[in-house]
Amino acid sequence: MNRNGSDKNHVLGIDIGGTGIKVAPVDLSSGKLLSDPQKEATPRPATPDTMIPVVEKLVNHFQWEGTIGCGFPGIVKRGIIYSAANLDDGWLEFPLRDKLSKRFSLPISLINDADAAGLAELKFGVGKKWSEPGSGVVLFFTLGTGIGSAIFLDGKLLPNTEFGHMELRGKDAEEWAATVVQEKENLSWEEWGKRVNEFLLKMEFLFSPDVIIIGGGISEDPQKFFPYLTLETEILAARMANEAGIVGAAMSSRI
Ligand code: BGC
Repeated sequence: MNRNGSDKNHVLGIDIGGTGIKVAPVDLSSGKLLSDPQKEATPRPATPDTMIPVVEKLVNHFQWEGTIGCGFPGIVKRGIIYSAANLDDGWLEFPLRDKLSKRFSLPISLINDADAAGLAELKFGVGKKWSEPGSGVVLFFTLGTGIGSAIFLDGKLLPNTEFGHMELRGKDAEEWAATVVQEKENLSWEEWGKRVNEFLLKMEFLFSPDVIIIGGGISEDPQKFFPYLTLETEILAARMANEAGIVGAAMSSRI
């Protein structure tokens, strides 16, 4: 197995999150990780100065010489960060793609973390049949430190949707229904599940999706909260759990 990136189908995926940073080489033809991810907690304060050295350390582990794809938990356009709700404001307008590309002297693509996870689930996970022409509208959400969102029409992504910041009960939806809120407020599965339901009902009404896919670590326990969801739309738990972010980050090098 070639791990250093000289095989064009092998791309190093970096998943930068509000809680942790993960890096692993990905085989783009199978959507599988080529080795266990290297992980570190997201340092606090979560500024470019504290986080980039962590990314660098994790990447250096792989002695990578090929392409890199990176997911980031905020709005990303043309390699620049425009929001970072769960990180430090020092990220705003930060040219992350150029900074990383210069550090590693390698080509780098950058994508929103939820867009990345959605891409991976549609191609390699539970959403395969939803990526074909005529398959319709897919809404994908990650419920974690924040609420991440991605929307697809016939498998094509509309990037940077940020539905987790839609107003719900007078605040950002993610401040009311993200997974971390369940922990922080010590909510039962029923209490939290009903909050997620309220968020999803609003999304369903606004977008009339053909399917809704729920990703993030919580997708491994759908039986705990799916019983409280009262949507008309088919709802599926993602299959790739936390690997989707790394795989989709690597996939961003091809779009
Ligand atoms: C950010 C999104 C991100 C989501 C999940 C939100 O706070 O605004 O860009 O996708 O968290 O990390």
